[in-house]
Amino acid sequence: MNIPKGTIPKQTQFFYGADYNPDQWQHAPEILERDIELMKQAGVTSASVGIFAWTALEPEEGRYEFAWLDRVMDRFAQEGMFVFLATPSGSKPMWLSEKYPEVRRVNKDGRRDASGWRHNHCMSSPVYREKSRAINAQLALRYKDHPALALWHVGNEYSGECHCELCRTAFQDWLRQRYGSLHALNSAWWSSFWNHTITDWRQIQTADPSIDALQLDWMRFVNDQHVSFMLNEMIPLRELTPDVPCMTNFMGTHESNNYWQWAEHVDIIANDLYPMPADCADSWRYSIQSDFIHSLMRGMSGGKSWMLLECSPSSVNWGEINKLKRPRSHRQEVLQAVANGANTIHYFQWRKGRGGFEKYHGAVVDHEGTNQSRVFKDCATIGSELAQLSAVHSADCPHAEVAMLFDWESRWALNASRGPKVIKSGGPFAGDLYTELCFDHYEALTCCGITVDQVSTQSDFSRYKLLVLPALYLVTQELADRIYQFTQCGGQVVATCMTGYVDLTNCCWLGGFPGAGLKELFGIWNEELDNLHNDERVELNGQFGGFARDVVERVHLRGAESIAQAGSEFYTGHPLITEHICEAGHAFYLAARFECAVLVDFYQSLATRFDLSRNLDIDLPAGLVFRRRESADAKYGFLFNYTQETHSVDLKGLSYSDLLAESNCAKKLELKPYATKVLRI
Ligand code: GAL
Repeated sequence: MNIPKGTIPKQTQFFYGADYNPDQWQHAPEILERDIELMKQAGVTSASVGIFAWTALEPEEGRYEFAWLDRVMDRFAQEGMFVFLATPSGSKPMWLSEKYPEVRRVNKDGRRDASGWRHNHCMSSPVYREKSRAINAQLALRYKDHPALALWHVGNEYSGECHCELCRTAFQDWLRQRYGSLHALNSAWWSSFWNHTITDWRQIQTADPSIDALQLDWMRFVNDQHVSFMLNEMIPLRELTPDVPCMTNFMGTHESNNYWQWAEHVDIIANDLYPMPADCADSWRYSIQSDFIHSLMRGMSGGKSWMLLECSPSSVNWGEINKLKRPRSHRQEVLQAVANGANTIHYFQWRKGRGGFEKYHGAVVDHEGTNQSRVFKDCATIGSELAQLSAVHSADCPHAEVAMLFDWESRWALNASRGPKVIKSGGPFAGDLYTELCFDHYEALTCCGITVDQVSTQSDFSRYKLLVLPALYLVTQELADRIYQFTQCGGQVVATCMTGYVDLTNCCWLGGFPGAGLKELFGIWNEELDNLHNDERVELNGQFGGFARDVVERVHLRGAESIAQAGSEFYTGHPLITEHICEAGHAFYLAARFECAVLVDFYQSLATRFDLSRNLDIDLPAGLVFRRRESADAKYGFLFNYTQETHSVDLKGLSYSDLLAESNCAKKLELKPYATKVLRI
């Protein structure tokens, strides 16, 4: 590979565009010309093409047709625009699916899917792997020197699982590789429980909720299988076009994919995000959840730029209630991604199709077909603003002083374990107990004006002042030791309830939670876990007041000091927030899920004590957030009003110019609901 990670060699400005499906309009060739004209008007620079176009490219096995795509590629090149050329594995041609039934997934009950739908191919099928590679090789051979080709869009939103015999055998082989012997497997899985001892590798099932270590390994296996499918797809691309980066579109915090692992195999991080408009008074919280997901992408790209590859320019069509985005909110979502380091903004979709599942999904171009729609005009304004902000694209997001560990393995292990309260959030992103705890802490830090870098278990923590570990449920000795060393060297660490319960195979640590030596680090023993009903709260008193909800642990001090205690329930007086001085650092344990106000007070006190810098040295009202991007010669600030009220903000000592305003440098900035300001500071 000749490409520096996180860069697209052909990129000189923000890439702005959409998923584009000219394959659906081959019967109406005038549409391509019309689209190009409209794209120019909207400031489009690029489009993802061919994502679901396999049959258009290979109408029958081994017979390829590229004339339509040649035309698209050529027209884009003539206009100085770029194509993110897709490999078409996201949906299977009917001829392929009917001729080779093994490419269709099998569900847990052993029933094979009918042909149809999409994102449902078997990841283990040798036939599907071979056929995908063959079509990819054809694409790479044909377009390798084409000036329009900027990037490979590999597959689409890989996810889901298949329980066919091929997958089952692959899982068994994967386990044999991982554990070496049945004895090792059985003890790792605690499989004598309910008589599940495995006496032959071929007995192993792909699903059994009674063996939670199996469930965890299955998640790992499915993730690995998708990654290996993607790498198989990339072989001809990397061979024939070593200078063209490969990416695939992630789905934020999607449960099934450990994207830290995926991030190592792609050249640039790309994500799809569809925040749903929320009408509740505190909908600003959901905007901060989008910010969380963007910052996760920033973390995966190591602070380098990344791509927002799909978002809707207006409503989606797959929700129960598909509200239109309120004025300014879409522009805000775009700039929020930019503020977090995105240098590409693409929509799903450029033009609404006439039929099919997505005919009512938001698009830049409506069925009406002109530049007269509200959405088109909005998109054109955003296109011209991104062009005005062109210099920002070479500025980076500064590194934060606070790191938060986001760990799919802990999440999988927790979700596979029966007992702790199961939470399904009502928010716009699939939330479980694990992600909700992450969102809570991220929100509180954001409300304090503190930027957070998201890190993985493999990251180097030493560059940070504070390390936050929400629900680090699965902890290995090696990781626990590194956290210990971090505090030894003067780092501050915050852990929450649900920390250190299990090891790598979802078996509980013995000797008291949190295990692997974290009991000593935090100076506590977590004896038991109370689960609350949704409307129940436990009072919190002491240095911090407020309420705990959902899950509360009954902990004992073993060297730590209690700084806030339960004020209700039979465990009144028990520590709920503790502090332990550990060598040169401090270790804080928050033994419950707390309401956000508690966490804001808590992090504010940490910010003062440990001198954590804020993005802006001004207290902003709740729901207003400031972010930065900086290059060697310029600094930019992004001020977001995520609330539904107008706020007027005095930036006091800061000298700035308002990059997108008609008049510059008002003393006070007035921000209407969902308004965003981009400042040169
Ligand atoms: C994405 C998918 C797109 C489109 C979009 C609609 O998940 O990648 O192809 O279906 O959703 O919101």
